[in-house]
Amino acid sequence: MKVTYLGHASFLIETGGKKLIFDPFISANPLVKDIDVDKLKTDYVLVSHGHQDHVVDAEAIIKNNEATLISNYEIATWFGQKGCTVYPVNHGGKVKMDFGTIKYVNAIHSSVLPDGTYGGNPGGFVVWNDQNCFYFAGDTALTWDMKLIPMTCPTLDFAILPIGDNFTMGYEDAVIASDFIACDKIIGCHYDTFPYIEMEKETAQKAFADAGKELILLAIGETIEM
Ligand code: NI
Ligand code: MN
Repeated sequence: MKVTYLGHASFLIETGGKKLIFDPFISANPLVKDIDVDKLKTDYVLVSHGHQDHVVDAEAIIKNNEATLISNYEIATWFGQKGCTVYPVNHGGKVKMDFGTIKYVNAIHSSVLPDGTYGGNPGGFVVWNDQNCFYFAGDTALTWDMKLIPMTCPTLDFAILPIGDNFTMGYEDAVIASDFIACDKIIGCHYDTFPYIEMEKETAQKAFADAGKELILLAIGETIEM
């Protein structure tokens, strides 16, 4: 499967023959130079919670591609009112889609949509099919609930965790989170985009290496095979 970093907490992931974009925040990201939102191709847009830095390009991408939004009930309803095709889920629920199974899992954070509409409770996604299984945590603190993931989902091949601190867990807590989810291969996100979340990459990677784990930090626009 291919994983492309679109900056901040935005990823394009190809799995099960479909393209999935997570938490698109591209056009307003000061660090993104060469990604044209209108040229992105996808089948689905998955949104973890309602904050601006996770939804800003979702409507355009969904409409450009006739894609389907997957998010919690409140966020799906909000996008549905804008004329987007949506598929609502909520915490603990899993559903079989044409690319695999997704499960919407707990996150400790907040969630309000850009116009002030209540965004439901924030979450993350575990996605799996015959080829692989991964966890996209969304914005979250370290939480005991992460221990439920290895108990209720297939073994994770990798996980995408926020590591930038201040608004989410920092890399030190993300090392503990990787233990909770029983996963040694982590892709970091939600760092460096704004002054609040600037982070020393080498220090973060050393913390993971010291724990016998790998922290992958992609350049914006970079694609890797997982
Ligand atoms: Ni947030
Ligand atoms: Mn955020």
